[in-house]
Amino acid sequence: MSEIIYDEDKQVFHLRNQYISYVLCVEELAILAHAYFGERISNYSGGRKYPRFERSFSTNFAEITHRNYSRDTLLHEYPTIGNGDFRTPAIEVEHENGATVLDLRYDSYEILAGKPALGSLPSAYLTNEKQAQTLVIYLQDQFAQVQVALYYTIFSELPVICRSVKITNNSNQVLHLNRAMSACLDLPYQDFEIIDLNGSWGAERQISRQAISPGIKTFSSTRGTSSHQQNPFVALVEKSTTENQGQVYAMALIYSGNHEEFVEQDQYGQIRVACGIASYGFSWSLAPKACFQTPEAVMVYSKNGLNGMSQTFHRFINQHIVRGNYQMKSRPVLINNWEATYFDFDDEKIKQIIDSAADLGVELFVLDDGWFGQRENDRQALGDWFENKEKLKIGLSGISDYAKSKNMQFGLWFEPEMISENSELYRTHPEWVMATPGYGKTFSRNQWVLNLSRKDVREYLKHSLDQILENVAIDYVKWDMNRYLTEVFSIELSANRQGEVYHRYVLGLYELMAYFTNKYPQILFEGCSGGGGRFDLGILCYMPQIWTSDNTDAVARLKIQYGTSLVYPASTMGAHVSAVPNHQTHRLTNLAMRGAVASSGMFGYELDPTKLTDEEKEMIQKQISFYKNYQSLIQSGTFYRLRSPFEGNETIWLFVSEDKSQALLFYFQVLAQAAPKLDVVKIPGLNPKEVYLVNGQDTYTGDELANCGFYVFPFLKGDYQARIFEIHQIPSKNL
Ligand code: DGJ
Repeated sequence: MSEIIYDEDKQVFHLRNQYISYVLCVEELAILAHAYFGERISNYSGGRKYPRFERSFSTNFAEITHRNYSRDTLLHEYPTIGNGDFRTPAIEVEHENGATVLDLRYDSYEILAGKPALGSLPSAYLTNEKQAQTLVIYLQDQFAQVQVALYYTIFSELPVICRSVKITNNSNQVLHLNRAMSACLDLPYQDFEIIDLNGSWGAERQISRQAISPGIKTFSSTRGTSSHQQNPFVALVEKSTTENQGQVYAMALIYSGNHEEFVEQDQYGQIRVACGIASYGFSWSLAPKACFQTPEAVMVYSKNGLNGMSQTFHRFINQHIVRGNYQMKSRPVLINNWEATYFDFDDEKIKQIIDSAADLGVELFVLDDGWFGQRENDRQALGDWFENKEKLKIGLSGISDYAKSKNMQFGLWFEPEMISENSELYRTHPEWVMATPGYGKTFSRNQWVLNLSRKDVREYLKHSLDQILENVAIDYVKWDMNRYLTEVFSIELSANRQGEVYHRYVLGLYELMAYFTNKYPQILFEGCSGGGGRFDLGILCYMPQIWTSDNTDAVARLKIQYGTSLVYPASTMGAHVSAVPNHQTHRLTNLAMRGAVASSGMFGYELDPTKLTDEEKEMIQKQISFYKNYQSLIQSGTFYRLRSPFEGNETIWLFVSEDKSQALLFYFQVLAQAAPKLDVVKIPGLNPKEVYLVNGQDTYTGDELANCGFYVFPFLKGDYQARIFEIHQIPSKNL
């Protein structure tokens, strides 16, 4: 259960559930201040009321003469700049006369049952109003007639608060918004460290941890997408925080475009952390009476270390972000022809792949890039979403029917947001390209981006994709996006509104994703952006899974999947077994290792099954039936990171079923050792008193597995090895 308590005398708001408390208060002169966020407290009696004393050189309010109360030092809920607080603000505006001051004072509040939707932005949802409550705090700038509504939704069963902000211009002048963060948290001095997820193409979501030092540390994407380089997530942890213990304050943004997370340590060691749309390239013109809605931020508190944080995110994402027919449903084991054929395929080749895959037990065939227009290579045809009947003589329906005749489903690749110079679409509509008049149009992968902020572009995409989706029996769509945005500009907007284009692009994208996912609820959609370049909570509101990385090398995937798991559950991570030598790293790993890594996500194959040996075929059949046996455990079980690939040669992770009756432990060794250490694994999360059978051989009680563990013996022999331990509860008389 969650509660929102308002103490009118003290003007204190206390949001809490069984896990967390969040306290904010209206301070002198109606300034909204932050008091506490952390483990639940039964009562807040004012211990974090900001002490009144003078700090030299600090600012004081115009209304008072004493010098012991200052915006400069206070912990704020939604700070401004220009009138006394010199730290990075949550909001920046420009009034019609060019002034930039904003003086936000508390005005009123509202408590709502449940959680309001965020207009056309994706956001967390409830299945029942009792799952959450929302506090809305209205702040006002009386002079400029600007209202800022702060939304705080506290969930009943999770240590989670969702925040967003709605800014309304109640004046009769135009207001420019130059920054509007979704959430901002001021914390008292504490020796924290920062964790973020950074990377590149082929190495997404690598974990970095660094000390906080005085000044500002900003993490952001200015690429128009959430990006391979910086995931919209940041966490503050205590120095002593590990996977299993210690405090964590985390924020993740439900957004797929430019984003920014910053951590600022001020002159007195106080910390400000915030996330929202990146201020680079952003400004929004608010006409009189217009409002702006920020994306939603998800704040998680854990006192049980990083596993505690991740398990909360995973439950939250599975229950309140991912939606639709496939939210809980098992996802089909798929085969994708990309690495098998690239652009070089015809009917015969595709049929052979389907035949061999069907024999292996694969459930879905995905036809990747190359099926449309004159798409013979990556220099042409993006935008021409019609069949190439010369290449596939039986057509898409023929391929779909063929797959179905083999008891397989059929999936198709699209890259709707893109256009090639050599395409019918570009010849007809050159004005649809995202471009700045007078400047060259920067290429990336030989392609340009369509300006999705334009309605005509969106209508074209709806119509042309509908032609395929309405007429071909399609069960799965891979929605790809293979470059970032440059020369961002829209001829449809006036000069002082060009700062809206990045965000309008994302709104256009969400309109399209909502259109297709609502219209075709039976289709399983998988997001993709050159692998995991847009792996974020925004996409997951439409598509239950995302291709984690183009890098399918099992060793590289250990870090990618481990890092991704900090926020995102296995149910969201597309993971495939590919051929060796690996196409990205040229590494040779054995099939068992590749199968074990991929089966820790939403499983599939990305290779040519017609080239497999009999022995490999037999192994793959076994891998698929193993995966089908454990699919629901992997998709919805509790995930534990037990040993990090960022720290050593071994990686260990574990899935435990909700009822604790079964578990799967994955143990990976990267390089062979001549004199290996005798490793002990311990298995947390089981029922201490129950008895478990490990790999059909040894029996242990849950508390023995958790505390004493067992040796990993015999040793794993050779480089790139995996061992899986299958753990099942058995009646206790068997001990
Ligand atoms: C990038 C994706 O990540 C790949 O899986 C593949 O679909 C290619 N694009 C196709 O162009």
